[in-house]
Amino acid sequence: MIPAVGQANGQTIGDAAFRTVARHLQEQTGIVLTDVKKGLAVSRLSRRLRALQLPDFDAYCDVLSGPDGAAEMQEMVLLLTTNVTRFFREPHHYDALRTQILPGLVAKAKSGGRVRLWSAGCSSGEEAYSMAMCVLEAFPQAAPSNIRILATDIDSNMITKGQTARYQLSEDDLSEHPILLKHMVKVPGRDRYVDIAEPAKSMVRFARLNLQDPWPMQGKFDVIFCRNVVIYFSTETQQKLWPRFAKALNHGGHLMIGHSERVTGPALTPLRSVGVTHYELQAQGAMT
Ligand SMILES: C[S@@+](CC[C@H](N)C(=O)[O-])C[C@H]1O[C@@H](n2cnc3c(N)ncnc32)[C@H](O)[C@@H]1O
Repeated sequence: MIPAVGQANGQTIGDAAFRTVARHLQEQTGIVLTDVKKGLAVSRLSRRLRALQLPDFDAYCDVLSGPDGAAEMQEMVLLLTTNVTRFFREPHHYDALRTQILPGLVAKAKSGGRVRLWSAGCSSGEEAYSMAMCVLEAFPQAAPSNIRILATDIDSNMITKGQTARYQLSEDDLSEHPILLKHMVKVPGRDRYVDIAEPAKSMVRFARLNLQDPWPMQGKFDVIFCRNVVIYFSTETQQKLWPRFAKALNHGGHLMIGHSERVTGPALTPLRSVGVTHYELQAQGAMT
């Protein structure tokens, strides 16, 4: 377990340096680094100090505010984001997708309509591919239709991993979600390594996107999963994001968030809670 003090691997971080790192991280990403995360920050950044041959965190802060600061902040973000994820995490959202949402969306796609799903803060892609598998189960010919899944994350290493589409499954993955192997191809000679099979792979497009920046996507989404991402942001940052997600949804579209997250504030007006951490954008005219 990582200690909650500013010390790890023989390195320590002073209060001023920690505040500088935390301020840069929050400005770049929205992620709030509280004091209890000091040990975690030191443990993750100390190998960066070694790679840059820096004696301590004060010297690291000088790099962050120097001419190479912008590039170094990108490196810092890669080290400080938490990328924990897995296939079919928080399965009730996939149940809702299968039973409540996909029947309508599949009918729309079959009649030539455009259907878009978004995994916002996708980490290494398991969430987006789980969505693709649900779609393929409901509509095996989905890949050539106009159903697409966008998977975005601030962490470019995770985007590369998702695009590579190779995963090592755990025993739990295999026993809890037998559907996985149906949409994967075993990698010869590598125990429990799999590649996502082509129909699911071809439906997902990965792109790096910082949720704090303007979003370049033109069209709206039918389903947005943004789960276990905003939990790291301040309430103020969350309150700015909710209306942007509401605006990015088609009327009747669905927003799924993480188990410990809640939509609060003015964004709740157009969004209606329809399940556990599951919201629906009210159809036009239904808003009071
Ligand atoms: C804990 S993972 C969640 C992955 C997946 N959604 C899930 O629930 O399993 C959080 C992800 O959010 C990403 N993230 C953090 N801040 C972000 C930001 N400002 N813009 C986009 N992605 C961000 C991180 O890089 C990380 O991959």
